[in-house]
Amino acid sequence: MSKLKLGVLISGRGSNLQALIDACAAPDFPAEIALVLSNKADAFGLERSAKAGIATATVDHRDYPGDKPAFEATMDASLRKAGVQLVCLAGFMRLLSPWFVGQWRDALINIHPSLLPSFKGLDTHERALAAGVRFHGCTVHYVRPEMDEGPIIAQAAVPVLPGDDAHSLADRVLESEHKLYPHAVRLIAEGRARVDGDLVRIHGPVPDLATLTNPPI
Ligand code: GAR
Repeated sequence: MSKLKLGVLISGRGSNLQALIDACAAPDFPAEIALVLSNKADAFGLERSAKAGIATATVDHRDYPGDKPAFEATMDASLRKAGVQLVCLAGFMRLLSPWFVGQWRDALINIHPSLLPSFKGLDTHERALAAGVRFHGCTVHYVRPEMDEGPIIAQAAVPVLPGDDAHSLADRVLESEHKLYPHAVRLIAEGRARVDGDLVRIHGPVPDLATLTNPPI
């Protein structure tokens, strides 16, 4: 079985990248990382990649002042050269242009730390607490030109608990991100998550879910 070749784009810590590295280490996982690309030379995720023997590249946006097209064309060429089939944004903190998003339409996914379409953008945990929601979580979605928009592939909900602050909530969400991202990649690699208009349809058996209630009944 040939594995789906991933290109992972990072800007920093790379804990979601690590979750993908760990998932790909399992012989039966249907994807492999062909390239990790960072827009920052000091991103810790680059060290994680080197340790795992994965090819890396840095394309620093500051080397392209006022020239986003050239920055993105360089990233695009690097991903193509590595044979990447699916680009995974994993804490990549640059907004991609409609051109780049169009080049990778339905082959570009993102993980976002909220239950979209709630709390697009930054500071999602602070805003979830301020809104008083009882569930928060994370979303993996196909990328469209509008920020944090696009067909939803998978979501994980976590409860907001009494006494939570943004840090404790972020930690709980991050733990769920690390499970959700490899799960979503697997669904795509197995051909089970297919874009249908503005939605993703999941093909094949899906276990029934019980209702979640918070506070519990
Ligand atoms: C993650 O929580 C990810 O969901 C978020 O940045 C963090 C990166 O952490 N992404 C965004 O906010 C994108 N809008 P990591 O570098 O440890 O994976």
